[in-house]
Amino acid sequence: MTELGLNIENLSIAFDRGRKEAISGLDLKVLPSQALGLVGESGSGKSLASRAALGLLPRKARVTGRITLDGQSVLELSPAQLRRIRGSGIAMIFQDPMSSLNPVVRVGEAIAQVIRSHESVAQGVALERAVALMARVGIRDPETRMRSFPHEFSGGMRQRIMIAMALAARPRMLLADEPTTALDVIVQDGILKLLDQLRRDEGMGLLLVSHDLAVVGSVCDRIAVMYAGQIVEEGPAMDVLMRSRMPYTVGLHASTQRSKTLKRLPSIPGAPPPLGERPASCRFAARCPLVAPQCLAGPVPLVSVGSDHMARCVRTAEVANLDRATFTVREREAAHNG
Ligand SMILES: Nc1ncnc2c1ncn2[C@@H]1O[C@H](COP(=O)(O)OP(=O)(O)O)[C@@H](O)[C@H]1O
Ligand SMILES: [Mg+2]
Repeated sequence: MTELGLNIENLSIAFDRGRKEAISGLDLKVLPSQALGLVGESGSGKSLASRAALGLLPRKARVTGRITLDGQSVLELSPAQLRRIRGSGIAMIFQDPMSSLNPVVRVGEAIAQVIRSHESVAQGVALERAVALMARVGIRDPETRMRSFPHEFSGGMRQRIMIAMALAARPRMLLADEPTTALDVIVQDGILKLLDQLRRDEGMGLLLVSHDLAVVGSVCDRIAVMYAGQIVEEGPAMDVLMRSRMPYTVGLHASTQRSKTLKRLPSIPGAPPPLGERPASCRFAARCPLVAPQCLAGPVPLVSVGSDHMARCVRTAEVANLDRATFTVREREAAHNG
């Protein structure tokens, strides 16, 4: 039986003749009509992983592992087969719509081009469908707006046009890489609601990539947290958010909470280890308030910490002693709890 959805198995991606490993043994699954959030700090490998799913890999990357989309092995497809699968099988929207929109093509025409590259329909029909798609993504007066150029739209409206283009080929899986990072909070909220609605209506799978735990939490059924090229926690969104079992996730949570009140983005003290200098033991140990000798002893596997919930930590039991707002150990309580 073919395995439906997107399935990434034991994916590793390295640069510099294999010396600098950016992604290490990544496993990720997005079932049809499921929304998975992939979250982590900048540089953790989120974009590389999602682009790999489209077969878009830097030329010098060394890649091992397996990626399948509805059972088809993405890493073994020819460039022509990949072009066919991109769009109708799997489509992607990026952070900066301006860089993916052709500035001299009217937006209605741009959407119609996508439709016609996947289906043999007349230009008039494609343009009608483009108008319907523009209405679908919340653009008012689409009959008039279809004749506008990308620079005549606001950032949020341009992102809606990118979503319309992604939907034009009726993809079964949508990858969205930081689709709202460049937008202000209110516009961001509108785009997230739209993605959520479209995903439900179309029964599409959605991989939503973000550095912001709150963003993925608002839309996704499941959350995978990445740190320095590895998945460090994965599970149902509610469990990962409310019952985090990996200190890094607690730290991300604290950053998000504080950034809302202090209007800045404080992060966990320190920085992730650079490529090529990642330790064989826990990669987060140098920044972790719960670090203990056993964390430095050797590779830390992902372990089951609940129903369908995994964490890469040897101190999952102690994570409850971390204050979710301040990312510090609650000393008193820790002592009380034994
Ligand atoms: N073409 C490339 N050549 C060398 N290093 C790269 C290349 N693309 C990405 N990397 C490195 O891989 C790591 C992960 O990058 P990326 O997936 O873009 O992170 P994220 O999207 O989580 O911010 C980073 O350290 C980045 O510098
Ligand atoms: Mg990225």
